[in-house]
Amino acid sequence: MTSITIDHNCARAEVPLVPLICKVKEIVPQTSDVASIRITSLDDTKPFEAKPGQTAMLSVIPYGECMFAVSSQGADYLEFTVKRVGYVTEQLHALQAGDQVGLRGPYGNWFPYEELKGRDVLFVGGGIGMAPLRSLITYMLDRRSDYGRIDLVYSGSTRDDLVYYDDIIENWPKIDNMHVHLSVYKGTPDWAGEVCYTAPFLESLGIGSEGRVVVLCGGPSLFKTCLQSLVRLGFAESDIITTLEMKMKCGIGKCGRCNIGSKYICLDGPVFTMEELKELPGNVH
Ligand code: FES
Repeated sequence: MTSITIDHNCARAEVPLVPLICKVKEIVPQTSDVASIRITSLDDTKPFEAKPGQTAMLSVIPYGECMFAVSSQGADYLEFTVKRVGYVTEQLHALQAGDQVGLRGPYGNWFPYEELKGRDVLFVGGGIGMAPLRSLITYMLDRRSDYGRIDLVYSGSTRDDLVYYDDIIENWPKIDNMHVHLSVYKGTPDWAGEVCYTAPFLESLGIGSEGRVVVLCGGPSLFKTCLQSLVRLGFAESDIITTLEMKMKCGIGKCGRCNIGSKYICLDGPVFTMEELKELPGNVH
């Protein structure tokens, strides 16, 4: 099997700066502090097409803007799954259907979905790390016969921290050759599944590295421990794909807020292989 190649120049051709004025179509609560915000144009069409893994700047006028992964999309909307962690995200959570927002993008490169055709793919994520994973998972499920076996290893602190609960519990496990493995870190009376940290849970599942590509998204602790586990399981770092998150401002490679060495996460990323990240200066995850 050939190693995965990520395109880092694909997003440089067009970098829109002026926000489109859009509106909230719907807000879908996920957990106590996570909601999926669906954005549509003022004329009820999809604001733009985004490829799996791409990001966009979402703004609440006049409070500010933040970059988020497009977590999924429908015929007339783009969806962003947002955790309430600060000033702008609080304003986003306070929005209601019909409220206006600014939206600019799409930004960045995307997951190598063409190269993954015919391959088995293991997704590993925790908590809000599901947002970028979901964009690729839904893309692959919409074209199910193009891809091999899909495994999702997903964890949260408790059952109440798992996002897209209906999909991970009800819908996705019923799909042909899709296997969902869930764990929580703290058991509660309403959780009958595994209670285990993600890395040891991942190692316990016996998912082999042969011919398989990994897509890994989560916080620093999950990332570090799962990466060690994946290497122990025999995965090559060139076959482990991840997305980088940085605080971004311009989104178009001008402000220098997101660069690591010569790479601008807003333009060259957010998608990299682990092999590529090792070449960047500093500890980027
Ligand atoms: S956000 Fe300004 S250079 Fe990337």
